[in-house]
Amino acid sequence: MTADLFGDDVPNWREELGPGAVVLRGFAVPVATALLAAVNGVTSAAPFRHMITPGGFRMSVAMTNCGALGWASDPTGYRYDRLDPESGQPWPAMPDVFLRLARDAAASAGFADFTPDACLINRYEPGARLSLHQDKNERDYTAPIVSVSLGLPAVFLFGGSRRDDKAARVPLAHGDVVVWGGPARLRYHGVLALKAGIHPAIGEYRVNLTFRKAG
Ligand code: SIN
Ligand code: FE2
Repeated sequence: MTADLFGDDVPNWREELGPGAVVLRGFAVPVATALLAAVNGVTSAAPFRHMITPGGFRMSVAMTNCGALGWASDPTGYRYDRLDPESGQPWPAMPDVFLRLARDAAASAGFADFTPDACLINRYEPGARLSLHQDKNERDYTAPIVSVSLGLPAVFLFGGSRRDDKAARVPLAHGDVVVWGGPARLRYHGVLALKAGIHPAIGEYRVNLTFRKAG
């Protein structure tokens, strides 16, 4: 662990969650303002929307995407698509600041040459949650997942390779980045219901960027 004990109060240390999984505390803090500006650029072309699960439920987390491929859910299933189903247009391009951060975080976690082609942007309002799931709609599992937390804090659940394995509760704050890949790539994960609050950067929301190599 390397902590900056005497600097300002930007956290900067790593916490291993197991083989192939690490939390990079505060890794995205230096670019958080630029990331949020880029999120606004993406959502002006591809607004947040509440997708419907294959089971017919409206997801509490609002979502959009950028990059060559976007994750989508509807009553027919989950998939990656080049086009935004709402507009019929390609998803907005992945902003450079996103790509650079995702590559740097992956490299720092030991995954060199990560080139994501998909960024799912999740927006949580108070009460919104994401139940335990595996990320397995991607074509190959050799690339890691890079997940960037912005805004209100949340509790991330990080489970095992089986749904009923006990999940660790990992508090995540603005600027924290979680990377999981290799032996951890298919670990179950989720997010507990967001607690209400006001974050100085984005108000009453949590926004999470999930970078993946999907195609
Ligand atoms: C995800 O699993 O797709 C995102 C998790 C998060 O929002 O932290
Ligand atoms: Fe996920």
